Amino acid sequence: MTLRLGDIVPNFTQESTEGPINLYDYGAGSWVILFSHPKDFTPVCTTELGAVARLKPEFEKRNVKVLGLSVDPLKDHHAWKGDIAETQGVALNFPLLADADRKVSDLYGMIHPNANDTLTVRSVFVIDPNKKLRLTITYPASTGRNFDEILRVIDSLQLTDKNKVATPVNWKDGDDCIIVPSLSNEDAKKLFPQGWKELKPYLRMVKQPGR
Ligand code: BEZ
Repeated sequence: MTLRLGDIVPNFTQESTEGPINLYDYGAGSWVILFSHPKDFTPVCTTELGAVARLKPEFEKRNVKVLGLSVDPLKDHHAWKGDIAETQGVALNFPLLADADRKVSDLYGMIHPNANDTLTVRSVFVIDPNKKLRLTITYPASTGRNFDEILRVIDSLQLTDKNKVATPVNWKDGDDCIIVPSLSNEDAKKLFPQGWKELKPYLRMVKQPGR
């Protein structure tokens, strides 16, 4: 199954380090980031799980619940948790799905057989409170992800859901935004009474709404 942006994501129930997780129940009323790891007791994954555990307050601030996945059994996950705490200086503080039967990995297309037959790639799925898929990113097993970038995209998604703006290259929270081209100048005057800088009729820079 190929999941595309805007699709309603499929539900599942799977074992995790915090008991069985039903995705729709877990994510009720929240955003969810679901991300896969190739294998337990691997170095890059260990650093990623530590980084996400440290960033958990940042995800919570944005009403995002975190959900990891690795295709190893629960007993391995529990043993790995000790290594994560020891080497990363932070305990795993979110559920890690034990997808040994590949139920979720197959459902979400996390195994790319031409990269590896059995292990998942590093997939990221950002799901909104309406269960719509809003972002996918796929990294190779050998490259650790940049979770600050994922937070940045979530900031952009949440801002652009509420305001008639888009965010330019390398935007980060607080930077100027772009008025969406579909908004006429007449309507833009009502939404942005403080005005904007028009570089081209289709490129109108405005202060970030709500700042
Ligand atoms: C790692 O997490 O370090 C890793 C996993 C699979 C392949 C290569 C690296």
